[in-house]
Amino acid sequence: MTKKLFGTVVIAAFILVIGCGQNTDSPEADKTSTKTENGLSAFEVENGIGPVDAKLQLGALDKTLAASGEKIFVEKCSACHKLDERYVGPAQRDILQRRTPEYVINMILNPDEMLKRHPEAKKMLAEYLTPMTNQNISMDDARALLEYFRSLNK
Ligand code: HEC
Repeated sequence: MTKKLFGTVVIAAFILVIGCGQNTDSPEADKTSTKTENGLSAFEVENGIGPVDAKLQLGALDKTLAASGEKIFVEKCSACHKLDERYVGPAQRDILQRRTPEYVINMILNPDEMLKRHPEAKKMLAEYLTPMTNQNISMDDARALLEYFRSLNK
């Protein structure tokens, strides 16, 4: 009985020591760790999860590219998105005021994973209750869509 109790105390003390050790270490660990609580890197929290995993270099607005983005938007997105009103999905004119360009492209190219894992996308799904579908957009077409969104804010 006493032996058993002693054992329990030793184990409890051990757990306490480990626990405290982790607590004092954790501020340091947070600084060096690239993952946040939800398992996403700081980059992913800001810019979404998907093929765009580094900041894009965006130059001056390319009007030709924006025009081709507008066509793609009408064909593949307007069934669910309008520019100025909520529809199946959110209004898109102000998208770049709410999200980074990288986030927008990751959402277009990788909506399934975004809706499963990204806290902001999950919030939107809870609000809109319809999952955005993967439209099998190429990276070039996603870039054109981004240019179209950029042109809306001029
Ligand atoms: C089947 C309907 C549907 C289609 C088609 C669709 N979307 Fe969506 N989209 C949504 C919904 C709904 C949301 C909000 C998140 C959710 O509920 O899935 C969303 C979210 C988004 C977001 C993120 C908005 C934000 O504020 O974070 C972007 C960007 C976006 N869509 C762009 C597009 C583009 C570009 C296309 C065309 C290639 C497209 N979507 C096609 C329904 C759709």
